[in-house]
Amino acid sequence: MLPDLYRIQRLRMETDDTFTLEMVPEGDHARFSFLPGQFNMLYVFGVGEVPISISSDPSSAPTIQHTTRVVGTVTKAMGDLKPGDSIGIRGPFGTHWPVEQSTDRDILIVAGGIGLAPLRPALFWLMSHREQYRKVVLLYGTRSPEDILYRHELEHWRGKFDLEIQVTVDRAASTWRGNVGVVTTMIPRAPFDPSNTTAFICGPEVMMLFTVMELRKRGVAADRTFLSMERNMKCGIGWCGHCQFGPVFVCKDGPVFRLDTIERILGKVEI
Ligand SMILES: Cc1cc2nc3c(=O)[nH]c(=O)nc-3n(C[C@H](O)[C@H](O)[C@H](O)COP(=O)(O)OP(=O)(O)OC[C@H]3O[C@@H](n4cnc5c(N)ncnc54)[C@H](O)[C@@H]3O)c2cc1C
Ligand code: FES
Repeated sequence: MLPDLYRIQRLRMETDDTFTLEMVPEGDHARFSFLPGQFNMLYVFGVGEVPISISSDPSSAPTIQHTTRVVGTVTKAMGDLKPGDSIGIRGPFGTHWPVEQSTDRDILIVAGGIGLAPLRPALFWLMSHREQYRKVVLLYGTRSPEDILYRHELEHWRGKFDLEIQVTVDRAASTWRGNVGVVTTMIPRAPFDPSNTTAFICGPEVMMLFTVMELRKRGVAADRTFLSMERNMKCGIGWCGHCQFGPVFVCKDGPVFRLDTIERILGKVEI
């Protein structure tokens, strides 16, 4: 339960309310390894501890990165940290996107808003093992063009021509030339073979519900569909019961679940 100390090396603003912290271990403990989709408990000293997904490259990045949207006390205090400040990390915890189990298949990634952060390590993985997969398609929806995360990376990957990226926004000024509408409207025409597709989904729960419905219409199997769930957490390791979601604990049985294992309780706030 004791956090390791990390030092903030850089804080990068992604949008008005979302930032990425780059951190390195402080002292002599080694940097941990992790799998795409896992999370850490980040402790802002004297303020509190929150679960945040790891958003960096799982293979090589010299720093550990977390991308966080400011919504309340702890995330605001985290956003006020400066390079050189310390932060506590417990983790990595939880299940991961099954990237190694999904080779020779089309990969469809559907992300909403900050939901792209837990999927970014999976994108790094897919791009560095690109020859092992068939089509890789990212459908990404945000509230407005100003809310698009990792703009430069998305442009870089798009420029490599072996990743199909489609972005849509809920609303935009007349200068926006891209798609307008919710992310689910892109699913019917997205270029993937439903009989040979594994889907990774992360975003607000209602968006994931509608995404699942659209994927089902296209014939993507429930046991090939994976979602990352969020619940209130305290311990992060299956002790306290804060994150209980029906018969499962999101911190240790998730956050990444195979759809057919949670379909019955998806979309329910309490059971
Ligand atoms: C496994 C897991 C991974 C997560 N990964 C990320 C991540 O990569 N990036 C990230 O930004 N967040 C992530 N979250 C959500 C993050 O943990 C919460 O936003 C954070 O705990 C809020 O703490 P706070 O003290 O700032 O806000 P609080 O003071 O606890 O809440 C302030 C207000 O915001 C509301 N609120 C709380 N959480 C959210 C939310 N997620 N969205 C909208 N409103 C909310 C509360 O209901 C309350 O009204 C993750 C959560 C889980 C369970
Ligand atoms: S957060 Fe304590 S059991 Fe999951």
